[in-house]
Amino acid sequence: MKIESTSVSPGELAADAIVVGVYEEGTLPAPTAAVDEAIGGVITKLRESKQIEGKANELTPLLGVTGIAASQVLVVGLGDSAKFGRGQAFRAAGAAAKSLSAKERGTVGFCLPDGLSDDIVQAAIAGAMVGCQGQDLHRVEKKQHPFETLVFAVDEETVAGGLAIGEAVNLTRRLVNEPANKIYPISFAEVAEDVAASTGLEIEIWDEERLKAERCGSMLGVAQGSDHPPRLVILRHKKGAEADPTLALVGKGVTFDSGGLSLKTGNFMDNMKLDMSGAASVLGAMQAIATLDLPINVVGLMGLVENMPSGKAYRVGDVLTARNGKTIEVLNTDAEGRLVLADVLAVANDEGADRIIDLATLTGACVVALGLDVAGLMSNDQAWCDTIAAAADSCGERVWQLPMFEEFGEQLKGSVADLKNMGDGRWAGAITAAKFLEEFVDGTTWTHIDIAGPAFVEKSKPWVEGGGSGCLVRTLIEVAKTFG
Ligand code: BES
Ligand code: MN
Ligand code: ZN
Repeated sequence: MKIESTSVSPGELAADAIVVGVYEEGTLPAPTAAVDEAIGGVITKLRESKQIEGKANELTPLLGVTGIAASQVLVVGLGDSAKFGRGQAFRAAGAAAKSLSAKERGTVGFCLPDGLSDDIVQAAIAGAMVGCQGQDLHRVEKKQHPFETLVFAVDEETVAGGLAIGEAVNLTRRLVNEPANKIYPISFAEVAEDVAASTGLEIEIWDEERLKAERCGSMLGVAQGSDHPPRLVILRHKKGAEADPTLALVGKGVTFDSGGLSLKTGNFMDNMKLDMSGAASVLGAMQAIATLDLPINVVGLMGLVENMPSGKAYRVGDVLTARNGKTIEVLNTDAEGRLVLADVLAVANDEGADRIIDLATLTGACVVALGLDVAGLMSNDQAWCDTIAAAADSCGERVWQLPMFEEFGEQLKGSVADLKNMGDGRWAGAITAAKFLEEFVDGTTWTHIDIAGPAFVEKSKPWVEGGGSGCLVRTLIEVAKTFG
C-alpha cells in the first residue's frame, strides 16, 4: 500500500472512495462541507433527518454520488468535537478504512477536518493503515484488502510521521498474528535483523552460547525444554548526546507458552502465540524511533524463548541462577515470563539504561483485574509511571496503575533459593509478578506494563480486526518523542 500526500481538493481527488468526517454537533468541517455542496447537499439532508448523527465511528456510505471525481463518499462520525483527540482520530479513520477494505480498492482519499494538529493527523493516518490490515495472513481469500494507494490532503512530512507510526503498529500486529510455527526465537530475530538493516538500527543477537557466557541462566532455564534455541536481541539507537539519558525498552518474547511441565490446560493455551507481544511492541516502536530519527538514546531488548515441556525441560523445584546472581526456585514453569525478563532487565541495566519500560503479557491476573482493553502499570518511580500514563492518555490507549506495596514482595522470599518465581496463591498475581521483576532492575527507574489483556483482541472492534493489537506501540513512540 502506498501512502501519499496531495494538495488536490477533495472534490477533484480521483479516488475510488473519499472519506469525510462529521462531528456530533456544529457545522460540517471545511472539506466535508465542500464535498457536501458538490454532491448536492446530501450530507446536510441526512444530518437534518438524523440519518447521520456524527456519533463516534458511525459509518454512512454514499454510493454513486455525482458532482465530484470520486464515485463514493464514506461519511464517518467523529463524535464530540471537544473530545476529538489522537485516540478518536485513530479509531474513526480505522473504522472507515476497515469498512472500505472489505472490497479491493485502488485509491482511497481521506479528507480530514481542517485545523487539526499534526499529532492528530498522524494518528488518523496510522489508524487508517491499521484499520485496513487484517489478520488473514495465511488465507488465500483475504477478508480485508489494504488499498493500493491511501491519500491524505496534508503535507509530506506529516504523512511520513503518520506512516512510521502505522507501519510500526502493523509490524507488531503481524508478528503477534503469525503462528508459533512461523515465529520462533530465530525467525523473530531475523525480522529484527531486517528492521535493523532497513532503518540503520545497530543490532546484536545473543545465541545460546553467548547467553551462557553472559550468565543468563534464568532465561536459559525456560528455553531448555524447546527444540527452538533462544535469542536475545539488542537494538541500539544512539542519536542523543553522550551525556543524554538512555531509554531502555524491554519486551517479553515467549514465542509460544505451553506452560512447560506445568502445562496449560483446557483452552488456556489457545492464543499463546501472543506471548511474544511485548517483544513485538518493542520491535515496532524501535522501528518507528529509528525511522523518525528521534534525537535520543534508546536500546530495545527482546528476550526470545519458547516455553515447552520435554525431557530436557526445566522442572518444578529446579533452581536457576539469574545474570545478577540471584537464585530462583521454580515453583511453576508457567510463570516463565518473569524468568525471561529477569535476565533481560539485568542486560538493560548493563546497557546503561537510565529509565526502563518493560512490556509483557505477564499474568492472567492482570486480565482479571483490568479486563481486555486496559494494560496494568507497575513502577518503582511515580514520576516515570506518570510520564508513561500521560503518553498513553494522549494517544488514546488505556493504562491503569496498580500498587507496588512492599508487602506484596514478602511472598516471593524463597526457602531453598533467594526467590520463588510465584507468590503464595493467585491473589494480586499481577503485582507479585511485578515485585519479582523489581528484584532485577537494580534500583533503576522502571515501569512494567502488563499487556496480557490488550495485546490480543479476540473480537474485532469497529476500527480494527481481532488478533494482535499492537497495543502501546503508539504510547512507546510518544514516550520516546518526549524523552530527554
Ligand atoms: N503468558 C501467561 C500470561 C497470560 C495469560 C497472557 C493470559 C495472556 C493471556 C503467563 O506466562 C502465565 O502463564 N502466567 C501465569 C502465572 C502463574 C503460573 C503464577 C498465570 O497468569 O496464570
Ligand atoms: Mn506462562
Ligand atoms: Zn507466558
